Amino acid sequence: MSDARLLSALSSLSHVAKQLEVPPPALPALGATCVKLNMNENPFPLPPVVKKSATAAFERHYLYPEDDNVGLREAAASAYGLSADQVIAGNGSSELLGLIYKAFLAPGDAVAMISPGFSFNRKLAMLHEAQFLEIGWGQDHSLPTQQLLSGPARDAKFIVLANPNNPTGTFIAIAEIERLVAQSDRLIVLDEAYVDFAPDNGLRLVNRYPNVLLLRTFSKSYATAGLRIGFGFGHPELIGRLRTMQNLFNMNVIGHAVGMSIIEHRDAFEENHQYVVRERELTSVALSALGFTALPSHANFLLARVPEGHDGAWWQAALQRQNVLVAFFPESGLENFIRISIGTERQMDALLSTVSDILSSPN
Ligand SMILES: Cc1ncc(COP(=O)(O)O)c(C=O)c1O
Repeated sequence: MSDARLLSALSSLSHVAKQLEVPPPALPALGATCVKLNMNENPFPLPPVVKKSATAAFERHYLYPEDDNVGLREAAASAYGLSADQVIAGNGSSELLGLIYKAFLAPGDAVAMISPGFSFNRKLAMLHEAQFLEIGWGQDHSLPTQQLLSGPARDAKFIVLANPNNPTGTFIAIAEIERLVAQSDRLIVLDEAYVDFAPDNGLRLVNRYPNVLLLRTFSKSYATAGLRIGFGFGHPELIGRLRTMQNLFNMNVIGHAVGMSIIEHRDAFEENHQYVVRERELTSVALSALGFTALPSHANFLLARVPEGHDGAWWQAALQRQNVLVAFFPESGLENFIRISIGTERQMDALLSTVSDILSSPN
């Protein structure tokens, strides 16, 4: 396109799109030897029966997927004790989070998130020209209930709470969340992306409180981040509106088939969930012997304070030079922390020995 035509096309962008930066070139493809512990993926091999469902579904590649995800929604509804009209299925739960922002916010409206929290929410608020209220966690990562019920958050259109929270991994007792939900007339989006690694979950709140929208994903505890399978559970009036706003054929035939097969065989994942919990605790202890302090986590990752001397950015870069990827969140006031996903035993050993090598090398 000539410069003049490009300028003309760019001038037609909405003012929100004009503010966005073009992303930098994609990172080079990762080598097979890379120890990838930066995105809370779960490298658990799928049970053969679930894998077979994907291969069989591929044969239907020329057909559009099922309209409105009916079969998958019905399967999820019966597995979680809900009715199909209380369930929406998404291309990952991030699609559903995006739909919630689209459905509930007009420019200038406010949304509240307990901070530090899942940073994608900040981007969604910006895209919808909403005010993003970050309400700090209470003492020892408790729920800041009073701040959510009064002050600026009182007028937020909805409150987002991830439990367990990302990136801290901390968990709020469901009774505490129930107290907030019962006292609030706001919509509470309870994002339970990591809940299968935690001691309890908020599913029972869905039938008790019409102002709860619960999000779940199969990306973490069911090891299918690449297949994009997520769910929203809530009152049929809310869920129905979200479904109406959803893109046509938002999921694909493989995601549908694998989602249904996981639901049918979800007991087979129990062993993996127990493994993650065990490995998380072992890694936390091993990290503390190396001078790191991990927050108590109920997710498949640890947020660890790095030893004095260097900040999280330094550690992330030092580990990356050795082919170990971890996450770092400077924008959330977590300059001295890194977030480490729980991977296979071999990956965790590689992480720990790389940390140990870095600590013992002159720098
Ligand atoms: C708290 C939280 N919610 C939602 C998501 C999105 O998950 P997905 O879109 O893969 O379902 C993530 C992913 O990291 C997350 O950490």
